[in-house]
Amino acid sequence: MSVPQNPTSERQLIDRFGRVHNNLRISVTDRCNIRCFYCMPADKVQFMPRNELLSFEEIERVVRIGTTLGIDRVRLTGGEPLVRRELYRLVERLVRVPGIVDIALTTNAVLLGEQAQQLKDAGLKRLNISLDALDPEIFRRVTRRDSYDKVIEGIAAARAAGFSPIKLNAVSIKGLTEDQIIPFAELARETDTEVRFIEFMPLDADNQWERDKVLVADDIVKILQAEFGSLVPEPSANPNAPANDYRFADGRGKIGMIASVSQPFCSTCNRFRLTAEGKLRNCLFSLEETDIRGLLRNGGAFAEVADAMLSCIAAKNEGHQINSGVFTQPERPMYSIGG
Ligand code: 5AD
Ligand code: SF4
Repeated sequence: MSVPQNPTSERQLIDRFGRVHNNLRISVTDRCNIRCFYCMPADKVQFMPRNELLSFEEIERVVRIGTTLGIDRVRLTGGEPLVRRELYRLVERLVRVPGIVDIALTTNAVLLGEQAQQLKDAGLKRLNISLDALDPEIFRRVTRRDSYDKVIEGIAAARAAGFSPIKLNAVSIKGLTEDQIIPFAELARETDTEVRFIEFMPLDADNQWERDKVLVADDIVKILQAEFGSLVPEPSANPNAPANDYRFADGRGKIGMIASVSQPFCSTCNRFRLTAEGKLRNCLFSLEETDIRGLLRNGGAFAEVADAMLSCIAAKNEGHQINSGVFTQPERPMYSIGG
């Protein structure tokens, strides 16, 4: 009798609230070459030992198993994913996995100058660049590093390699980045760039997050409207997209808001996460995780790994509790979860 190729094909990653999970975000390292204050500690960072990281083979295996449960898109994150040696080789592997229709990457662009073309050639479809300020001095205050010029070089290389449009993600911090909003909007209006402002979430390593530091989407919209006139909400093509998009009244340019704190989008979430050392997390804010690496390294069968994925999603909570008064910040800061 032949063994079925795909013993779990009837099963899907649907949680108790009916959300279908088809989007896996894979952290490939917790290391980073800059030190954004909303993510990493300033110094003395304890990184994971290298042998604890999933190998590219192991990541590919997780993705192959995931596709039989309905995963069809993946995003590579970090830390900073481009500090993982030869990342393009992972892209090459994942492109070949049947059922994967989209591979994206989130990067700070510091190393993109060297790698953009290689990643494009490997089959990477989309990239998002994290850049919180167009002013080099504010960039330095956020990242605690002087890498601004490298980032600009990296963005140019991404354009030259044919990534289009260029998508920028800017975390917005009250009292720090208000005066960056208009320059970002001008960039979006004048070049082939989509900018999305992200609200600061309580995922920083130093527990410095306070509600007062969140520059909320409504305030950003007000800043933009004062300069450019009314913004026109743009219906989203993808119901699972976390961003609320707007067009400027004159039709030039588009801007997005990721209002994770002030307008949570948990009810349409289709994502879950694999950390660099092989733990599955059903939410950025979950306090529990499911070990996959142990299964992989102890000869776990295909079905065992699939079952672990299914139970991870089955245990997902309805949403984060940031606005509820009973919120507990997860022990892992952003850099060790993967954005
Ligand atoms: N709040 C909001 N966004 C964050 N990111 C990292 N930490 C936080 C935080 N505490 C963003 C990064 C990047 C993406 C991976 O997540 O800037 O764009
Ligand atoms: Fe590095 Fe990204 Fe964290 Fe900034 S947000 S320190 S770029 S991992």
